Amino acid sequence: MHKPRSGHVLQEVLGFADETPSRKEASHRQRLKRLLSGKLDFHGEYSNYAVHSWHSFPAKFPPQLPRLLIRELTEPGEIVFDPMMGSCTTLTEAMLLNRRALGSDIDPLALEIAKAKLKTINASDVWATGRRILASAQKACDRNADGLAKEFERRFNENTRTFIDYWFRKKTQLELISLVREIECLLDPCLRDFFKLVFSSIIITKSGGVSLARDLAHTRPHKVEKKPTSVFVEFWRRLQRVLRDYYPAASVKDPSIFEADARNLPLRDNSVDLIVTSPPYASHAIDYMRAHKFSLVWFGYPVEHLSALRKKYIGGDSIGDVRLLPMPKHSGQVVRSLSHLDSKKGLVLHRYYSEMMQILLEMFRVIKRGRAVVVVVGSSRMRGIDVQTDKCLSEIGEEVGFHLVHVAERRMDRDRRMMPARWHGNGGNNIELRMHKEFVLGFLKPASEP
Ligand SMILES: C[S@@+](CC[C@H](N)C(=O)[O-])C[C@H]1O[C@@H](n2cnc3c(N)ncnc32)[C@H](O)[C@@H]1O
Repeated sequence: MHKPRSGHVLQEVLGFADETPSRKEASHRQRLKRLLSGKLDFHGEYSNYAVHSWHSFPAKFPPQLPRLLIRELTEPGEIVFDPMMGSCTTLTEAMLLNRRALGSDIDPLALEIAKAKLKTINASDVWATGRRILASAQKACDRNADGLAKEFERRFNENTRTFIDYWFRKKTQLELISLVREIECLLDPCLRDFFKLVFSSIIITKSGGVSLARDLAHTRPHKVEKKPTSVFVEFWRRLQRVLRDYYPAASVKDPSIFEADARNLPLRDNSVDLIVTSPPYASHAIDYMRAHKFSLVWFGYPVEHLSALRKKYIGGDSIGDVRLLPMPKHSGQVVRSLSHLDSKKGLVLHRYYSEMMQILLEMFRVIKRGRAVVVVVGSSRMRGIDVQTDKCLSEIGEEVGFHLVHVAERRMDRDRRMMPARWHGNGGNNIELRMHKEFVLGFLKPASEP
């Protein structure tokens, strides 16, 4: 067959220009299948480039995973969406690849992290401002400790003060107030968001941090006696680390970030080109709010407000006032098997699969026809039973209208994708093996109405 001549060149460059919708869908399906059948472990690959290492976040993606999917399944300028963006790994990669990044989350800290990560900062402004706010904060601590103590009383309500008093030393409290006050006064929103992120990153850390909690980054805080650490020294250290690997994520367009419950997205039908996302585990296995409130209280959120918000997170373990949906066959069986052993846990699982059904329905609505939705989920055991998240979510996805193209399994890099501490140290047993495995579900929205 000879090559097409003039008039066809543009079609060749644009790739799909002469394709009918069903051929487009077929090639998308093949591509998705090929990608998910390939190697998805990325162990040993360097992941701390650009802004990826700026803030701890449990169960974050290795950036190579969304990168591969975005590069192969979209064209520059197309819209890549993550409705549970967390530390915005998908959005960062979308921007680095010149796609339009769109992201949402229910978690206020995720939104703060995204605001800071996705803007371009000027390193020399950061150094100069960092020095200045540290000097002013230190001066306030040295000369106006009484004023800061009054500010503490004024800023926080009683419950929030009790929480802070339990988890932070008095001296640390005053240092944190003096620093956050300086940050709030910054007029440049980019610098303000950036320094809020650095501030939060000295509290939510893998080990240590300036609170009295250990394992905050794993969302399993427990109180320990620690050597006192200076907020100012930690802040300066983090600033240096954050800027070490920094380069901005260039984009054809600014990212759009918004607060939303993934079950109810304020987006038009058929409006995004690719979704790459990962939901929380069932039964609060990773309890985002439990850790994130250690930072959020300093940004003005009262603890009661945060506790109320926590109830709206997917995978919660309370069962009052939740909407349970009818489950398809296999998922219903898994829920029933668990209910026989433990009726409360059975309801918690039913809640999780119902919430995931609502999210899959929303993703089905907003993704364009013929395009892919990739959902990364961990395996979970409840009361010793494997609750088969891969099979159940595949089935639920098909129930809401998706074609299931492929389910891949990947081994998590145990040092990278931070998981709750109790999942570590179970050396080699079955539970430990399961918790370090996750599934990548590839769905496609059919090109035509059924
Ligand atoms: C596994 S994390 C996502 C991590 C992300 N892929 C990354 O690379 O950082 C799951 C996210 O779901 C969010 N989430 C939980 N419930 C939600 C809800 N109802 N609506 C939107 N996001 C929710 C959590 O706040 C958390 O950020």
